[in-house]
Amino acid sequence: MTLRTATASDLDAIMTIERAAFPTDAWSEAMMAAELASPYGRYVVDEEAGRVIGYGGVRAVQGGTDADIQTIALADSARGRGRGRALLSELLRTALDRGAREVFLDVRADNPVATALYRSEGFVEVGRRPRYYQPDDVDAIVMKLDLRSWAGRDAAAETTGAQVAETDAATAATRTTAAPRTTAGTGWC
Ligand SMILES: CC(C)(COP(=O)(O)OP(=O)(O)OC[C@H]1O[C@@H](n2cnc3c(N)ncnc32)[C@H](O)[C@@H]1OP(=O)(O)O)[C@@H](O)C(=O)NCCC(=O)NCCS
Repeated sequence: MTLRTATASDLDAIMTIERAAFPTDAWSEAMMAAELASPYGRYVVDEEAGRVIGYGGVRAVQGGTDADIQTIALADSARGRGRGRALLSELLRTALDRGAREVFLDVRADNPVATALYRSEGFVEVGRRPRYYQPDDVDAIVMKLDLRSWAGRDAAAETTGAQVAETDAATAATRTTAAPRTTAGTGWC
């Protein structure tokens, strides 16, 4: 498993996974490209044998106190082997490095796998957004993580074993609004 900061050249591979993971509400290629190019966050890809098999993004403005997990997804064949947790941990470390104290995310209420992952890392439910995800008409669960508590726990539990090679600022990414994952574009998980 190799985690590294995403670049624009990863767009095609990311979009292949994105469309498969989110068949009804995948982000557009233009939107994902903007995410990868944004300076307000960071996208990470997971590679196996030189092939991108997962990605995730965090919005974390340098010096800001709040961060947001924007998305995280793995190719179907790569799931269930700890890679989702490794990706999430890397995004949380980025948020921590940039000064965030709390991390937020939205997750579909019909996604028990992702919800279990987030809960197990310490995220707690802080609200619901009824019918947030369209066209599927599914509620969003809004979750929050106390990043310093997570960091204390993470330090104790070190380490994931991932090889991380953060490259440069051009690889940062963001999603600028809290809008749902819709065909219109912007959104979270
Ligand atoms: C959600 C996702 C990123 C999780 O990544 P993953 O590599 O499959 O998960 P991991 O192997 O790291 O497991 C992490 C935790 O997730 C939960 N989990 C994983 N697979 C699960 C399954 N089949 N059933 C229930 N819970 C599961 C468990 O809590 C697990 O912790 P554990 O291994 O200690 O029990 C991945 O499944 C995925 O890409 N799903 C499709 C896209 C998606 O839903 N993205 C999230 C949008 S918010």
